[in-house]
Amino acid sequence: MLSPLDVFRDNALAGHVALVTGGGTGICRGIAAAYARLGAEVCIVSRKQDVLDASAKELSAETGREILAVAADVRNPDAIAAAIKATVDRFGKLDTLVNGAAGNFLAPAAALSPNGFRTVIDIDLNGTFFAARAAFEHLQKSRDALILNISATLHYHGTPLQVHASAAKAGIDAVTKNLAVEWGQFGIRVCGIAPGPIAETEGMKRLAPGDMSTKMAASIPAGRFGAIDEIAAAAVFLRSPAAAYVTGHVLVVDGGQCIATPPLGMSF
Ligand code: COA
Repeated sequence: MLSPLDVFRDNALAGHVALVTGGGTGICRGIAAAYARLGAEVCIVSRKQDVLDASAKELSAETGREILAVAADVRNPDAIAAAIKATVDRFGKLDTLVNGAAGNFLAPAAALSPNGFRTVIDIDLNGTFFAARAAFEHLQKSRDALILNISATLHYHGTPLQVHASAAKAGIDAVTKNLAVEWGQFGIRVCGIAPGPIAETEGMKRLAPGDMSTKMAASIPAGRFGAIDEIAAAAVFLRSPAAAYVTGHVLVVDGGQCIATPPLGMSF
């Protein structure tokens, strides 16, 4: 059976330089792998250098390319700016920023501490803006730049136990639209991907534990969870010349989950 990535030609991204926050694990590791496999120079960024180093080694073995791994907490504007500078110092430029670093957990709103709410907003939403702002000076030199913000579909409806993440993802989608409008004149497209439930990710382990995942899969029109490579394929499409006239758009990749009723097979 064809993999979702088999439709892209070899070296389709040769000459591109991408930085992927959250690229050490899960969906964003898959995006980093796909970009590298198609010839891009890739830097992965997350908080823990040991996790990043292990992922970079695996990704290098999988793709045959050097993968730069720079630890930075996206909540710290100086740290993410330094990671972006390290990427430009190593590869000479930056064409693509993928904002995928995220934190989440299930928590009833009435029991969620102010710091818990703030923490998720800081990582997901503030981190997205801090990275985009720090990348701007480099991306505008590319003239074929893309910022790709990973959000979710949580905020399309009210989602129980997810007020913090829903608010953050709604904010990210707003950042996507606003920056697309402001930065189009600098040759920077800004797009988003809103993944549905994706198998074998930390998010799904945490957000749909036990038999909740079976119920959730049954509520998805596609009848299953998505695969990491299906999100990576969307990220390659949005990075490619095929999407050169697409900006400000958030591509939902969720097997139809967010348009189905009920939107989540979750009780609380
Ligand atoms: N339920 C309720 N509150 C929680 C929580 C949970 N499961 N996990 C964290 N919080 C709260 C903490 O209690 C704390 O608030 P407090 O100071 O009022 O007690 C606040 O969030 C910050 O938590 P802390 O663990 O100190 O922050 P951190 O910056 O080290 O990590 C996360 C925050 C969200 C990244 C952490 O929960 C985590 O490591 N998650 C796993 C990785 C992950 O989320 N991956 C993405 C999945 S989509």
